[in-house]
Amino acid sequence: LRIAHALNSHLLGALESAFPEAVASARVAGAPLDPQLGPASKPEFGDFQANGALALARPLRLAPRAIATAIVDQLAADPDFGALCLPPQIAGPGFINLTLKPELLAAEVGRRLADPRLGVEPVAPGGAPVVVDFSSPNIAKEMHVGHLRSTIIGDALARVLEFRGHPVLRLNHVGDWGTQFGMLITHLKQVAPEALDTADAVDLGDLVAFYRQAKARFDSDEAFQTTSREEVVKLQSGDPVSRRAWQLLCDQSRREFQRLYDRLDIRLDERGESFYNPYLEAVVADLAAAGLLVSDGGAQCVFLEADDGTASQAPPVIVRKSDGGFNYATTDLAAIRYRFAAPPEGDGARRVIYVTDAGQASHFAGVFQVARRAGWIPEGGRLEHVPFGLVQGEDGKKLKTRAGDTVRLKELLDEAVERCDADLRRRLEEEERQEEEAFISEVATTVGLAAVKYADLSTNRITNYQFSFDRMLALSGNTAPYLLYAVVRIAGIARKGGGDGEVPEVLGFSEPQEWALVRQLLQFDAVIQEVEEELLPNRLCSYLFELCQLFNRFYDQVPVLRADEPARASRLALCRLSADTLKLGLGLLGIPTLERM
Ligand code: ARG
Repeated sequence: LRIAHALNSHLLGALESAFPEAVASARVAGAPLDPQLGPASKPEFGDFQANGALALARPLRLAPRAIATAIVDQLAADPDFGALCLPPQIAGPGFINLTLKPELLAAEVGRRLADPRLGVEPVAPGGAPVVVDFSSPNIAKEMHVGHLRSTIIGDALARVLEFRGHPVLRLNHVGDWGTQFGMLITHLKQVAPEALDTADAVDLGDLVAFYRQAKARFDSDEAFQTTSREEVVKLQSGDPVSRRAWQLLCDQSRREFQRLYDRLDIRLDERGESFYNPYLEAVVADLAAAGLLVSDGGAQCVFLEADDGTASQAPPVIVRKSDGGFNYATTDLAAIRYRFAAPPEGDGARRVIYVTDAGQASHFAGVFQVARRAGWIPEGGRLEHVPFGLVQGEDGKKLKTRAGDTVRLKELLDEAVERCDADLRRRLEEEERQEEEAFISEVATTVGLAAVKYADLSTNRITNYQFSFDRMLALSGNTAPYLLYAVVRIAGIARKGGGDGEVPEVLGFSEPQEWALVRQLLQFDAVIQEVEEELLPNRLCSYLFELCQLFNRFYDQVPVLRADEPARASRLALCRLSADTLKLGLGLLGIPTLERM
């Protein structure tokens, strides 16, 4: 990226000298000329390609090739440009192909080896926080595979944003409020009244079963229903016993969620729906003041607009139900208002990201629009929904256990680890290798959890994805075991290659396999910035997968440990930078690596 910026300014300079009037008038018109520099579309075109000459043909009334030639002539006269690139080539109707000087690429490899950030520039310090709203399960309800996907994708995005230097608020928007608490509290008061009398933590056992029991009673018992409805009102008005019951239920759920987060090494700050209760009235007041509220059958709504400002076909956003209660959308509106508001009344964020299943897309489109029209989003503020597809079983239907039940996340992770354990023991037996139990358990845990995470991250998140242990645990293909194995392979080379610690000297490369690997390695910073912008972790996965493939091709076809100096040192340096890049990249996906497996 650093080099791309330098090239861009050289190209701009060349444009300026070749066509001073055109550049000046474009600037006056507020449409500065763009050399349209991008990565080369094919390796034989070099490293970069500038397509700007084509767009200039019309305003300059010249053939694009003539324009390209004029630019190239200017570049030839620029010694600083000559230090970066080989003489540019003009191709096709007027594309300028640029190939970086080999010594420059080799020097860049050396620079990255000495840089723990591997060339990824940090953003300026003191920037506004970025909110990542992810995981967000519901109290007392099952945390399902959709929440697992949100947890894994949200964590990876948060890691990338943090690595770039943004202050990130990792918010768990837990569903800890709403009418379901009426029946839960009523049930709790009846089955475990003693829990309400102690100040200690109480183990309520399996909350999912508890929820089912409460629901069954609610559906069959009219008196229970009435009490439950009254209970909602009591809770909302702050009745101490109801509050205590609510707190107990939340604590119990929290402990269960936390076990999963700890296991996956995921940090989240809980800020559930209840946090926004004190701000709900203000939401309604703001919307009324902005003239957006319409009464519809007793409910307070905001009708949506299409992009062109006409009335939208989408259902309105209900802000207050006819019984006076608030809902999921009201809470999300209060959350947006709070997150963008300047401290101390709010978070002062500039970018707010939501990671949920694609089924909630219209909910978010609606509340985002209302927030914008209410004027809560500051200049430059970004609201983004990061949707993902459903997790399906191998039969293409909703993921279920063989017995037809919903899959428990704990059991899903256990199974991944157990399968890795069995695979590893089989491999050790075949290779007649002896390993300690602690080693086996560490490898199985790391690989099993990595496989689950990577499978979630590597598919284009919008599409549904089929959950398959066999596929995610395979040693070949775009899988965590394949990537982790490459790291192990390089660690083995480093052990044999010696020269631990100090940064190896890079003198140059000769083989095409080396150059292909170098070019891939040097794209790391651009990929990270792309993920930061587009919020697609699968881009980073594909990049790392391709890196492994290029590394394996290089290592299989080019001698490293047996090469003569100086090639040996330069090749060891490539191995080392490959390992560093894989480790950092996987780390940003929330996946730790191993030295042996
Ligand atoms: N609790 C919701 C669910 O389980 C997800 C919440 C997502 N975040 C938000 N701000 N709405 O579907």
